[in-house]
Amino acid sequence: MQRHLISAADLTRDDAVLILDTAEEMARVADRPIKKLPTLRGRTIVNLFFEDSTRTRISFEAAEKRLSADVINFTAKGSSVSKGESLKDTAQTLEAMGVDAVVIRHGASGAPYRLANSGWIDAAVINAGDGTHQHPTQALLDAFTMRRRLIGRDAGLGQDLSGRRITVVGDVLHSRVARSNVDLLHTLGAEVTLVAPPTLVPVGVENWPCEVSYDLDSTLPKCDAVMMLRVQRERMNAAFFPTEREYSRRYGLDGDRMARLPEHAIVMHPGPMVRGMEITAEVADSDRCTAVEQVSNGVSIRMAVLYLLLGGNEPAVTRPTGSEEK
Ligand code: NCD
Repeated sequence: MQRHLISAADLTRDDAVLILDTAEEMARVADRPIKKLPTLRGRTIVNLFFEDSTRTRISFEAAEKRLSADVINFTAKGSSVSKGESLKDTAQTLEAMGVDAVVIRHGASGAPYRLANSGWIDAAVINAGDGTHQHPTQALLDAFTMRRRLIGRDAGLGQDLSGRRITVVGDVLHSRVARSNVDLLHTLGAEVTLVAPPTLVPVGVENWPCEVSYDLDSTLPKCDAVMMLRVQRERMNAAFFPTEREYSRRYGLDGDRMARLPEHAIVMHPGPMVRGMEITAEVADSDRCTAVEQVSNGVSIRMAVLYLLLGGNEPAVTRPTGSEEK
C-alpha cells in the first residue's frame, strides 16, 4: 500500500482485495453492541471539505470515530478560505497542529495530489473526491457492494470481480465516480461498459479500459450490475441534452427497463439520487437497488483504508474490544 490514497488507478489488484477483505472485518465491528476499536487512538484526522457532501463526509467521520481517532472537521464555508486563504496556508495550519491524516474533498481536480506531493504537510492524504477526477473510496465501496451481492460475504473473501459485467450509465463526463470505478473495476478483472449520450462521453475515452455504448436497452440484459450516475448540473456550463424528459426517456432507469436486467443483477447509485431524472422512485425503492447498502459499506471501506494507511502493523480486529494497546 502507498502512503496516500489519491487515485483508484494507484491500487494494485492485491491492494484492492486487501482493502475489501479488511473492510469485511471492519463490518463485523458494526454488528457489535459497541461499534468501536482502539486502533487509531491518539491519532488526529482532519476532514477538509471544500465541496458539499453528505454521505462521504458523514461516513469518513463515522469510520474515524469507530477507530477511536481524534477528528477535526473543516468546511470551507465559515473558514478563512472564504477570506481568500490558499490551500498551502490552510495545509500549513494543519501541519502546525500535528495532524496524522487529511481527508480532502475539493472542487479542483488534482488538489489532493498537490497536497500529498507539495511538502506542505507530512500527513497521509486521502482523496474524498476532487473535481471530475477521482473518488477512490467510492469505487472501493462500490466494488465491496458488488462482491458481497454477486459472490457473497464469506465466499467473496480473497476474490476479485473477474468476468463480472458492470454497466455505468449517465453523466460520465463530469463524474469522478465513473472514472474511479472504471480504473478499479478493470484492476479487479471486471468488464465495464459506459452508457451515455454522446455529449456526456469524455474526449479520450477510447484510451480507458472499457467499452462505450449509446444504447441502454441492449446493454441491460448482459450485465451483473448497473450503476446510475447523477446528472451533475453544478459542473455543466452548457446544454448537454435537449430536455430532462428526453434524458430520462433514453438514459433513465424505470421499472420497465429494470425488468430487462438478469434476475441476479443489482442496481447501484452513489447518491445523491435525483428521483425522476436518472432513476424512478420505483427503482430507487426496490430491493434490487443497493444505494442505502452502499452508504453502510462506505463506513467499513473507509475504516479499512484508514486502518491500512495509519494503523501500521497492528492486527485489524483480532483484539477483543476494549483491550489495551501499547
Ligand atoms: C458523488 C460525488 O460527490 O462525487 N457522490 C458521493 O460521493 N456519494 C456523486 C455525485 O455527486 O453525484
